[in-house]
Amino acid sequence: MSKEIDWANIGFSYQPTSKRFVAVYKDGKWNDGELTDDPNIVINECAGVLQYAQTCFEGLKAKTSKDGKIVTFRPDLNAKRMIDTCERLCIPPIPEELFLKAVDEVVKANADFVPPYGTGASLYLRPFIYGSGPVIGVKPSPEYTFRLFGTPVGSYFSGGLKPIKLMVSDFDRAAPCGTGHIKAGLNYAMSMYAGQMAHSLGYDENMYLDSKTRTFVEETGGANFLFVTKDGTIVTPKSDTILPSITRRSLITVARDVLDMKIEERPVSFEEIKEFAECGLCGTAAVISPVGMVHSEKEDIYFPNGMENPGPITQKLYDTLTGIQMQEIEAPEGWIRECK
Ligand SMILES: Cc1ncc(COP(=O)(O)O)c(C=O)c1O
Repeated sequence: MSKEIDWANIGFSYQPTSKRFVAVYKDGKWNDGELTDDPNIVINECAGVLQYAQTCFEGLKAKTSKDGKIVTFRPDLNAKRMIDTCERLCIPPIPEELFLKAVDEVVKANADFVPPYGTGASLYLRPFIYGSGPVIGVKPSPEYTFRLFGTPVGSYFSGGLKPIKLMVSDFDRAAPCGTGHIKAGLNYAMSMYAGQMAHSLGYDENMYLDSKTRTFVEETGGANFLFVTKDGTIVTPKSDTILPSITRRSLITVARDVLDMKIEERPVSFEEIKEFAECGLCGTAAVISPVGMVHSEKEDIYFPNGMENPGPITQKLYDTLTGIQMQEIEAPEGWIRECK
């Protein structure tokens, strides 16, 4: 039985749910972990996460499918990406089975916070790991804690599928670790200034260009780009310094294998984006959010769909991906995990 929540208007914010999962890495191994009621964390003042930001996180969603099951979308890819991030941050990787057990247990324990089918809302899951042992020299923490909590969310951008406005600034994506294969706290704090600046000037997000030449499109603070050419080809930036979005990879498979579209994954110069017919931001939170315009110092670029409605291909990709996620459309093998 779902909680009595106004699912249509919850937006994208935190609200505590009943249970969360905690596992600890100590003396060279991860324990089995367990559910807890306590949303608060007591931590040593010298913990690795507080001193050197040794932490990383993932994000995925649980939804109610058409036939009333609670399902997650490709959680194994989140587990694998978290392992890559851990390796880069000298954090002992969380085993994939432990990650998936935490997903299943948290979803089951908070089933009444999973929005009903058809509301468009989801239970957003936030797995994260942090150095919880004390460390004063610059080196990895001796102990780590993995936690996973859920919070019900609606649309990431307040207008739902209404196109958003981006701004190109001089700020770097600021991935101080030099790789996009990372979802680390430090990384994201470094990107907040550009995001806040864009908001204060009336834009929804900042569009990052590559740090080296400042001529190629990278991503935004929380999503990758998909463009559509005038002849209906999907173009997505190829770069080693963006996060390998699970949504973007899934949309590309859907576009190629389900919708029979042509795909180009290649460097995309900022100069060429005015030639594209559509532009979308893709991510777990954004799904695929249409972009209506991009502001730069030189010019304002408007995509042909304008500021009221998504372009037809963006809409089609959105409908097909969300249809697969809610099992209205048959999913490729292994994409849907039922939380039993
Ligand atoms: C910087 C960044 N890029 C892209 C994405 C989208 O990734 P995914 O589709 O795996 O959610 C995210 C999601 O949090 C992100 O933070």
